[in-house]
Amino acid sequence: MDRKYPHLSSPLKIGNAILRNRMVSAPMSFPDIPREGYLTASAAAFYELRAKGGAAAVTISECVVHPQTGKSHSVHIDLNAPGGMRGFALAANAIRRHGALASIQLSHGGMYGGADALDKSVLSGAKRYGPSNMTLPNGTVVTEMPVELIREITRAFGTYAGLAKQAGFNMLMVHAGHGWLLHQFLSPLYNFRTDDYGGSLYNRTRFLSEVLDSVRAAVGPGFPVELRMSGAEFAPGGYGVEEAAQIAQLVEDKIQLLHVSAGIFEGGFARQHPSMFHERGCNVWLASEIKKAVKVPVATVGGLNDPEMMEEIIASGKADVVEMARALLADPYLPAKVVEGRSEDIVHCFRCFTCHAERMTTGLRRCSVNPVIGREEENRHVPKAPFSKKVLVVGGGPGGLMAAITAAQRGHKVILCEKERELGGALRTERKVPFKKDLYALPQKYGYLARKSGVEIRLGTEVTPELAEAEQPDVILCAVGAEPIVPPIPGIDGKNVILATRLSEDDVEVGQKVAVLGGGLVGCEMGLHLAMEGKTVTVVEMLPRLAADANTRHRPILLEQMKLHGITEHVSTRGVRVTEEGLVCADEDGREFLIPADTVLCAVGMRPRREVVESLRNCAPVFLEIGDCVCPSIVAEATTRGYYAALDI
Ligand SMILES: Cc1cc2nc3c(=O)[nH]c(=O)nc-3n(C[C@H](O)[C@H](O)[C@H](O)COP(=O)(O)OP(=O)(O)OC[C@H]3O[C@@H](n4cnc5c(N)ncnc54)[C@H](O)[C@@H]3O)c2cc1C
Ligand SMILES: Cc1cc2nc3c(=O)[nH]c(=O)nc-3n(C[C@H](O)[C@H](O)[C@H](O)COP(=O)(O)O)c2cc1C
Repeated sequence: MDRKYPHLSSPLKIGNAILRNRMVSAPMSFPDIPREGYLTASAAAFYELRAKGGAAAVTISECVVHPQTGKSHSVHIDLNAPGGMRGFALAANAIRRHGALASIQLSHGGMYGGADALDKSVLSGAKRYGPSNMTLPNGTVVTEMPVELIREITRAFGTYAGLAKQAGFNMLMVHAGHGWLLHQFLSPLYNFRTDDYGGSLYNRTRFLSEVLDSVRAAVGPGFPVELRMSGAEFAPGGYGVEEAAQIAQLVEDKIQLLHVSAGIFEGGFARQHPSMFHERGCNVWLASEIKKAVKVPVATVGGLNDPEMMEEIIASGKADVVEMARALLADPYLPAKVVEGRSEDIVHCFRCFTCHAERMTTGLRRCSVNPVIGREEENRHVPKAPFSKKVLVVGGGPGGLMAAITAAQRGHKVILCEKERELGGALRTERKVPFKKDLYALPQKYGYLARKSGVEIRLGTEVTPELAEAEQPDVILCAVGAEPIVPPIPGIDGKNVILATRLSEDDVEVGQKVAVLGGGLVGCEMGLHLAMEGKTVTVVEMLPRLAADANTRHRPILLEQMKLHGITEHVSTRGVRVTEEGLVCADEDGREFLIPADTVLCAVGMRPRREVVESLRNCAPVFLEIGDCVCPSIVAEATTRGYYAALDI
């Protein structure tokens, strides 16, 4: 049998172990970590799902080897936690029993100890050690790490490697990238030492080299050790890919897989986790350059999820392995679907950063497109319903579609009606926005999966009380969404005003100068899209912050893009009327001024379609409401509620 993706599907020997294919689950921390550092059953279930989904190796992260000095977050898993071995052994076993290699990331935060902590009080007052004495931009004082401490941490890497092997891990990763301790020593940005651990490249690599020796002494020859490094720092004065290749050459005989990521800690987030504004695979060239300099197999990472692209990366020899994080949150079964040649079934991540932002704000792990993530333990299977019911889903946005798929998988007979001629709901507005193309594609993919699961989809069908009663469903899942708010200001009905939700319609023409009324997420993104098309854009927002409803990870990246594209912003400013000249605004003191514009784009928010909901409420014995028709929100809310509503029937 010929495989559709033969290179991605082929095994690779690394040391004395075999990767069953070339797709690895990149390190992802799971936030359910008790203070003691135990690996919980819910964390084990999170990692197990990726092994079940076909990944060749699954990396548990982030285990700090010297908790006294090295915590980069407020809580960490700790292989050495008293009585904790059992949790790690269960997790390693849960990964291995599905045929994947169980790996664990060993790390130390160095001078950023506590920098990313949710609960900063945990680490307040702790001394921060880095390669050299310095003060960080946030005022944190960093103390040069004494040689005795370097030696202690080196030994700790070995101790933890030994514990990992004892727990049943059959691979491990040493983290020397993303600006953490070992990277800090490699970097000319932070390492100004004059002893054996600073100065020349050889000296800067000494700590890493000794750590790898310590690890090797603990795990023995052939045990697969993966080294994660940044292939370039992307910071003025930082090392570039040539120097990264030299570092790799110095240590390649101590490792079995070289994992090339990118960037430093400060300002490096969007480089390490390429955002929707980056090309997919934008870091591959780093792996490819370094691979030319070394013999050890090389892995690449960052924004990968397209099987065609990943197959080409392996086939052309740019890298030997591809690693994915967010893509496997969105669809843990991506590797299995690739190997089986079912790439059309893959649900793609659209890089919204809900996964990261939720951890920072609530301590949860969530995904917009996959409601099971973070709750794997309670959602091992979609349970079959005891009796098959007739379910009418009203609305073909993400909420209705997720509900329809799940209800059909449970064995119900499902009809989904959408009043427009196309699925997608509010996401139809993203059709012409290049950086949202993956989000636009999402409901189309859900539609395909719904049909495949047996859902009957009726487009161009508005559900009225008459239609609903004629169908006689047992259950109505109502996901009719929201509609744009039109502010009652003079001139808003003028020809020069366009609702943001209509921007992707073919008959809509936008002038060269645009004033965006409403600087929430939608107004900012639509304004950015128009600025990228070369329009002159001004965004007006009543609140003191732009994109206040965007998540904490996406927001700074979006604001940076807006700045880059020359968007003018007025916050704490109200739009008071639209005239033929543009948008008249009032500042905080009530002073009026004109923003000259050919087009005013109105993006002041959405209101739920409550009247539709109420008209259908008594058309079936069971009536459940889903998504924006309850309260306008985000895709994650709609899909999560859709999934659980379908489980509730
Ligand atoms: C411009 C824009 C950009 C956005 N960007 C993001 C983003 O980047 N990330 C994010 O997470 N969220 C974003 N959102 C929010 C997100 O789109 C919504 O939260 C989500 O679409 C809600 O899904 P839903 O299924 O509840 O409703 P909708 O997506 O609104 O779908 C409701 C559907 O019901 C149909 N319908 C209504 N009445 C009937 C009826 N009687 N019969 C049949 N069908 C009917 C409608 O035509 C519509 O297709 C954005 C919203 C907008 C408007
Ligand atoms: C939810 C989440 C948690 C992560 N946790 C870690 C971590 O603990 N250690 C680490 O080295 N990288 C971590 N990463 C980074 C990933 O390993 C990966 O390098 C990055 O997400 C880019 O890959 P992607 O585009 O496939 O998501 C995390 C990424 C995500 C999305």
